[in-house]
Amino acid sequence: MNHFQYRNNDLCCEEVPLKDIATQVGTPFYVYSHATLSRHLETFSSAFAEVPHLICYSIKANSNLAVLKTFVNHGAGFDIVSGGELFRAQKVGCDAAKIVYSGVGKTETEIADALQAGILMFNVESTQELDTINAVAGRLGKKAGIALRVNPDVDPQTHPYISTGMKKAKFGINISQALEDYRRAASLPNLEVIGVDCHIGSQLTKLSPFVDAIAKIRELVENLQQEGFAIKYLDLGGGLGITYDAEQPPSPADYARAIIEGTRGLGVTLIFEPGRVMVGNAGMLITRVLYVKKGEAKNFVIVDAAMNDLTRPALYGSYQGIQAADRSIDGTIIADVVGPICESGDFLAQDREIPAFSQGDLVAVASAGAYGFTMSSNYNSRRRVPEIMVKNDKVMVVRQRETYDDLIKGETIPEGL
Ligand code: LLP
Repeated sequence: MNHFQYRNNDLCCEEVPLKDIATQVGTPFYVYSHATLSRHLETFSSAFAEVPHLICYSIKANSNLAVLKTFVNHGAGFDIVSGGELFRAQKVGCDAAKIVYSGVGKTETEIADALQAGILMFNVESTQELDTINAVAGRLGKKAGIALRVNPDVDPQTHPYISTGMKKAKFGINISQALEDYRRAASLPNLEVIGVDCHIGSQLTKLSPFVDAIAKIRELVENLQQEGFAIKYLDLGGGLGITYDAEQPPSPADYARAIIEGTRGLGVTLIFEPGRVMVGNAGMLITRVLYVKKGEAKNFVIVDAAMNDLTRPALYGSYQGIQAADRSIDGTIIADVVGPICESGDFLAQDREIPAFSQGDLVAVASAGAYGFTMSSNYNSRRRVPEIMVKNDKVMVVRQRETYDDLIKGETIPEGL
């Protein structure tokens, strides 16, 4: 459920027609529904109410400070993957004891900053990283909480670019190697082994890969506990999918039931790193039709948003719903929705039956709250678009549209060039 609904013919975010926001801030822009964000967090968290758990929202999906603050206000922590994400987490006052740090390539500086901040644990992805964290912690006179990210070798049955839990992926430590690496971690003086971590991929629409992974991880946790490791946290990553088109992913309640069942009796606090399921359907990208071009082979609806604003269709061939902000438009056409960028890969939808848009109409690109703005760029020297948050009838600009000066910030023309 989300709070993007038609009222009469106008698509609204909560109580505000999108056309009113377009008049106020121009196009294109991202818009997020505060009520939807809150609801998604509450739904996920209450599904796990019967077991000790911590939700560490995965910042990479949408890192806008207002989005992060909304989650902090509901008690969430964060999954971070860079010094920049740590900075954002601190800016919104996240309790550092609710931060986990993932990723295969943490630098010494990033590790040091996270230790100084006092994060809960590092999800470690290689033995060299164990040594580095141990050394940095030693220099700072700290103990680093760690989990090993274990790769259970299950197929998440999703797009190959976002599958992470198979043997051939760069992520994690092979499960067959894990016990040995845990023993090694325990021998390092500045580390405290407190958890086990696993994240197998993103946009999972079936329960079975989660269930298969948990069965393998469970065995590892039990073996570790038998060896005397005090495993307090089991981090099961993110990955729960959403409906973009016709997918029917498990509900948070179904997901929770399977996980609670699979981890029963382990005596651990469960950690989750959901990203997409929290924000994906809480956001839309709103763009205006510049031109409609009817061709012999194809029709093109040329809009003012492009692949630099929303990369997913170009990068993964992924589906984003296309809706009219005004649903009184008569009839439909089959067309590509494309942007102004000079590449044929610059499309938001292809060969899609959509409302018969005309010049000046507003187009809403659905399910754009996750990996939308965060993956945007300045390609073609396009300014990044504003982000708007709506709460009831309130419209808040939570990131301004970039200016042309922002585009050249930090660039210099050397003297005597
Ligand atoms: N934890 C870790 C360690 C991750 O690598 C990710 C996502 C998450 C949690 C959150 O996963 P989620 O709940 O959002 O599925 N750009 C791609 C998605 C990349 C996902 C990367 N890792 C897309 O637009 O589909």
